Formats: sequence, C-alpha cells, structure tokens
Amino acid sequence: MKTIEVGFGDKTRSLYPHVWLRENCQCHQCFSQGAIARVFLVDELDLNIQPKEIQLENGGLLVTWPDGHTSQFSGQWLHERSFSDEARAKQRSRSNLKKVFWGSDFKIPTMDFDLAMTDDRALLEWLVVLEKYGIILVENAPQKPGPVLDLINRLGFARPTHYGTDYLLNIDHHVNNLAYTSSKLGLHTDLPYVDYPPGTTWLHCIRQHEGKGGDNDLSDGAHAAQLLKERDRYLFDVLTRTPIYFQDSGFETYDFDKITRAPTIQLDEEGNISRLNISSQSRDSLMDLDTEGVLLFYKALKALNNILYEISIRVKMKPGDILVLDNFRVLHGRTPFDTDSSSGSRCLHNAYIDWSELRSKRRVLQKKFGVELE
Ligand code: OGA
Ligand code: ZN
Ligand code: ZN
Repeated sequence: MKTIEVGFGDKTRSLYPHVWLRENCQCHQCFSQGAIARVFLVDELDLNIQPKEIQLENGGLLVTWPDGHTSQFSGQWLHERSFSDEARAKQRSRSNLKKVFWGSDFKIPTMDFDLAMTDDRALLEWLVVLEKYGIILVENAPQKPGPVLDLINRLGFARPTHYGTDYLLNIDHHVNNLAYTSSKLGLHTDLPYVDYPPGTTWLHCIRQHEGKGGDNDLSDGAHAAQLLKERDRYLFDVLTRTPIYFQDSGFETYDFDKITRAPTIQLDEEGNISRLNISSQSRDSLMDLDTEGVLLFYKALKALNNILYEISIRVKMKPGDILVLDNFRVLHGRTPFDTDSSSGSRCLHNAYIDWSELRSKRRVLQKKFGVELE
C-alpha cells in the first residue's frame, strides 16, 4: 500500500500517498512556519516509506513513522490539499483564473481611478476582471505623468525595461522606436525581444490627438489563436513550432541590443495557449528557417493577423484614461494620425508590471476578504 484514503464531513474523499505525507510533515523540524517553507529534504525521503501507525485524532491524522517520528495533519489541511479530480480543478484558480474570450462586440470593462487607488475590495474586483478578460480601462486619472505608477506601486514594483521604468510616448522624442512617431502601429505585443516580456502593459492617455487617428486597435490574441486552431490546425501548428527572432537595438540611457527567439504562439505544458509574440516592428529580417519555412511562416502569420483584426475592437482613449492590457494575450495597435494639425500634442505615459505581482495582490486581497474564485 502506497496511499491512505481519507473521507471528509462533506462526503468527499481523497487518497494521500505515504511518501507525500512524510515529505509534508508540518512539525517544526520538517517545516518552518516562520518562512512557510519545507525544511525536510528529498535527500532524506524514503520512496517506499510506510507508516508504522495511523490514528484518527481531532478530525485529523496522527501518523507514526518507522523511526518513531510523528506527523500531525488537521482535517482541514488535508481537505485543502485533496487529490480528487474535482478538488484539483478548483485548486487551479489559485494560480491562474480561467480566461474569458471576447470579440468585436466586446465593451471594455471600466474602473474609476480613485476607487482603484483607495478601495481594496474594488481593486480585487478589478484584478479579477483583468485576469479573466486581459483588459480593463481605468478612467478619471489625473491628466499628468504619475498616476500610472501610483496605481502600479499599489500592486507591486513596476517592471523596468531598457526604456526605463516608465516613459512618455510623444512624437517629440528622438525616434529610437516607432511608438514615438505618428505611424500606424499594427496589432502587437510589447517587448517580444526580451526573454521575459512584461506581463501587462499600461498606457495612460495624458493628451489625445484631436483630429482623426490616434485610436487604439485591441484584439484578444488567445481567442484569435484558438479560432485559428479550429479553422486551420496546420497553420496553427506552424505558429507554435516556428521560432522567430525579435530584435530591438539603439540607445536609451545605455546602448542596447536585444535579441530573443520565440514562436508566435506559445503553449504551456498542457497545450493551452499561454503567450503570443507578435510585432511587425521588431520581428527580425534574419530568420533561422529554410525558404520553404519562411513561406509557410508568412502564410500562417497572415491567417492569424486576419483573425486578429476580424475580432478586434477600436477605442480612442480620453485624457485621463489608463488602458491596462495582458501583454501575453491582448494585442494593441494604433491608427496613424496627422501630425500637422496638432504636432506633438498626443502624449501617453507607459509602464509595465508582471503577472506575478498582480496575481499575488489578487491572492492577498482574496485572503483579506475571504473570497473564493472559480
Ligand atoms: C507602444 C504602443 C500605442 C499608442 O508604444 O508600444 O503600442 O497608442 N503605443 O501610441
Ligand atoms: Zn516532522
Ligand atoms: Zn505597444
């Protein structure tokens, strides 16, 4: 016997492997409650260990091991770590919330800036929406550089890049990035040329271009990739299996020369769409492919690009809006604008923060308010 079966008051049951129980002994020798970290090492773990005795005690288990060491497990502690299929499905929301796909009829969820800054319950709701939909629009922020970092600092540390921790996007800037021009930007993810692109991108509109243009195109890339998978599995596979170079080089504080290699659609261990890497501006002309591979790659990218625009929405941010996007999932672009009519006036303040920080804050607030999520 390698496991013990435990039944609970709610009629659920779970098996627990002996080896797992031994490794997860919660006594102060085996586990540090201060550090919330296991002290017991795999070095000491006997794969074939069998309890000498198991007693029921106060609704939990008291296990005595062959060497006399004892481990106590409360019923609640075991229940929270159930290995049943149903329990494991629920446990998954602890790490990541399920994505809800959207398309061209989508209305972007909004949140008031002051409320997000001052009300933790509202902030939790906000984080949940951002995680599920990959997009939220914060409204009524002050129309000057600063608020975007104030809100980010309420959640964790901003993620720096070679452009700094934050930067102003306006066309007065020296052109080391197309963002500082008035050109059209195609649907893209930010910074695909670093090994770990930032998890979320934040665009705060301080001044908007008043004439035609300067709108943002937005598209749910995970949804688009899923649609491609359903419509043309072969082209989908091309995009998950073809690594492409992305590059960015220039000067900003220091000389930089970033190159990374990544597929357009990244999958996780279970084959779920986990990240998109798309950017015409920074996809390298140097390709580690034979010419047949190049032709196939373009065909697949074009097919995905068509779906991205088919399901996209277009918004024109107002001064005081902060658009927050899941940079692994939701692509953004910008329509071109005419610089003659109000030259240099459009100004966005841009910063990033990673998903680890946002999900961590979501869990902290869930604990604070005792909120369980599916
Ligand atoms: C960018 C970008 C959008 C805009 O800088 O990466 O997408 O509206 N900018 O200027
Ligand atoms: Zn112990
Ligand atoms: Zn961008």
